[in-house]
Amino acid sequence: MYFRRAIIVCATSALDAKGTALWACKLAGSTDCPKGGATSLSFTNSKNININGLMSLNSQMFHIVINGCQDVRIQGVKVNAAGNSPNTDGIHVQLSRNVAIFNTSIKTGDDCVSIGPGTKDLWIEQITCGPGHGISIGSLAKDLEEEGVQNVTVKNAIFKGTQNGLRIKSWARPSNGFVEGVQFLDVLMFNVQNPIVIDQNYCPHNINCPAQVSGVKISDVVYRNIQGTSASAVAIKFDCSATNPCSGIRLENVSLTFRNQEVQSHCANANGKIVGSAQANSCL
Ligand SMILES: *[C@@H]1O[C@H](CO)[C@@H](O)[C@H](O)[C@H]1NC(C)=O
Ligand SMILES: *[C@@H]1O[C@H](CO)[C@@H](O)[C@H](O)[C@H]1NC(C)=O
Ligand SMILES: *[C@@H]1O[C@H](CO)[C@@H](O)[C@H](O)[C@H]1NC(C)=O
Repeated sequence: MYFRRAIIVCATSALDAKGTALWACKLAGSTDCPKGGATSLSFTNSKNININGLMSLNSQMFHIVINGCQDVRIQGVKVNAAGNSPNTDGIHVQLSRNVAIFNTSIKTGDDCVSIGPGTKDLWIEQITCGPGHGISIGSLAKDLEEEGVQNVTVKNAIFKGTQNGLRIKSWARPSNGFVEGVQFLDVLMFNVQNPIVIDQNYCPHNINCPAQVSGVKISDVVYRNIQGTSASAVAIKFDCSATNPCSGIRLENVSLTFRNQEVQSHCANANGKIVGSAQANSCL
């Protein structure tokens, strides 16, 4: 493999992709929008990357992509795009090792951080998300042959009005992919639609999911000190694969409310335990 070195320091400048015209075209459902759109900043097969103090505005597609990289530090980055802007993920990481994201604020229309196959040793600390779709591991099981996701930590995160908080998502399709060792620590939720969700039955329009079960095995996922408010009654959903049930799910000191009431939870094929003062009516 060929590695390039890259160092970026962008303390005062902003990357403005002026994506609003493309979003408007997509939102209008037009069939002749310009194809695709551009990722604002993308690194592939690179090593020792340092992105510091960058402001990324109104990307046409993903704002920052880390693909096939190693030893990456992203710090003090701000992403800003409209809450209804399509496919404008803040930071997407895949096939990469030892990526750290610190002190970052992401307001966008899609995932705050999306974590794809082959991500290992990812550390995210001090991040504010919203609007947007929250932090998501997935979608996985897109392909039959897929690298796993291993050792992901999210610590000191704040979600404000997002569609999801902490999500793990896989297609209901065969795959050798997996998720192993995830820690979600010290998280505050404000009016989040789906604060805690594992969805292994993703299959839009029921197309291309012949068996309707996911081959992805999810294990050892810790949720510790998760507080705040949910915008829906069922704030904790573990909808795991019937053939590869989730194992080692731990809820520790999880306390969420919906309209001042304790929230509900839903589990299918999920095994694990509650430690300490987690949600009393948890289904685990
Ligand atoms: C966090 O990042 C912002 C820029 O987005 C910077 O002004 C601030 O000093 C950083 N804080 C820490 C603790 O690194
Ligand atoms: C998990 O990843 C962190 C960096 O994010 C690293 O410091 C730690 O050693 C890794 N743990 C294991 C067991 O590999
Ligand atoms: C549980 O959460 C509360 C509120 O954030 C915190 O004060 C307390 O220290 C946590 N308990 C444990 C055992 O971590």
